[in-house]
Amino acid sequence: MATVVGGIGTTHVPSIGRAIADGKQNDPYWKPFFRGFDYVHYWLARTKPDIAIVFYNDHGLNFFLDKLPTFAIGAAAEYRSEDEGWGIPVSRSIAGEPDLSWHLINALVADEFDVTMCQEMLIDHAVTIPMALIWPSSALSDRSWPVKIVPIEINTVQHPLPSLARCLKLGQSIGRAVSSYPQDLRVVVVGTGGLSHQLDGTRAGFINKEFDALCLDKIVTEPETLTRYSIHDLVELSGSQGVEFLNWMAMRGALTGRVNELNRNYHIPISNTAAATVVYDNQTEGERRAA
Ligand code: DHB
Ligand code: FE
Repeated sequence: MATVVGGIGTTHVPSIGRAIADGKQNDPYWKPFFRGFDYVHYWLARTKPDIAIVFYNDHGLNFFLDKLPTFAIGAAAEYRSEDEGWGIPVSRSIAGEPDLSWHLINALVADEFDVTMCQEMLIDHAVTIPMALIWPSSALSDRSWPVKIVPIEINTVQHPLPSLARCLKLGQSIGRAVSSYPQDLRVVVVGTGGLSHQLDGTRAGFINKEFDALCLDKIVTEPETLTRYSIHDLVELSGSQGVEFLNWMAMRGALTGRVNELNRNYHIPISNTAAATVVYDNQTEGERRAA
């Protein structure tokens, strides 16, 4: 049986790609942010996942405002990226796991999530930057990535957006579907983007430390309490791009066991963004009984 071994939350700011390309990880501006990944690397070396299911939002590379699904899932054997105009290197392709993707798609539709299924799907910086942060040596070399991916896209761009409750349930549906997949695969779930930020308008540069702290506290053991915030509350409290927290809620939903926060790093600012990096453990009932 496949198992969700844990979850990772991370920002996906494009300028991180420039910092990596220029080797700036130890510069004073970047160091407190990149240090937050030391624990991620330590944890991955121990947990050794085979698959990463990545909840993210596309910013106009694969989907545009003319056709924008609320939820879309990749079912490709390979995911390519392309130049989005940020002036950063284009990531190498990442292999997919179509059998698992179709299993998840079947389970989601059976669970009344009518997702858009994509046998071709370009992945943008919201997947490639987290991949480069989480598996830096594979991103910088020709060595193949240690995981295959299933990208799951959530609309955080064009209103109406799905609610926090809906994204939590989407994640829960994915979590259940993984545990009914017959192959022994170790799966890490990743949520990208956030935390508070706003890139445009009169509130450009908006950051809300207090609300970010509340979200990071509540999401661990009582994510349901966050579902009382409407999308409009979330825009007000977190910024118009802070709504990328929806990807984090889906990631958290996929952790259906007992969840512990193993590590948290929070750093302001990375570009215009409050950058959070977290690692969550997902202890299944079987593991609890054995412990
Ligand atoms: C920035 C943040 C984002 O979430 C994004 O998609 C692009 C840019 C930023 O803070 O620069
Ligand atoms: Fe973004």
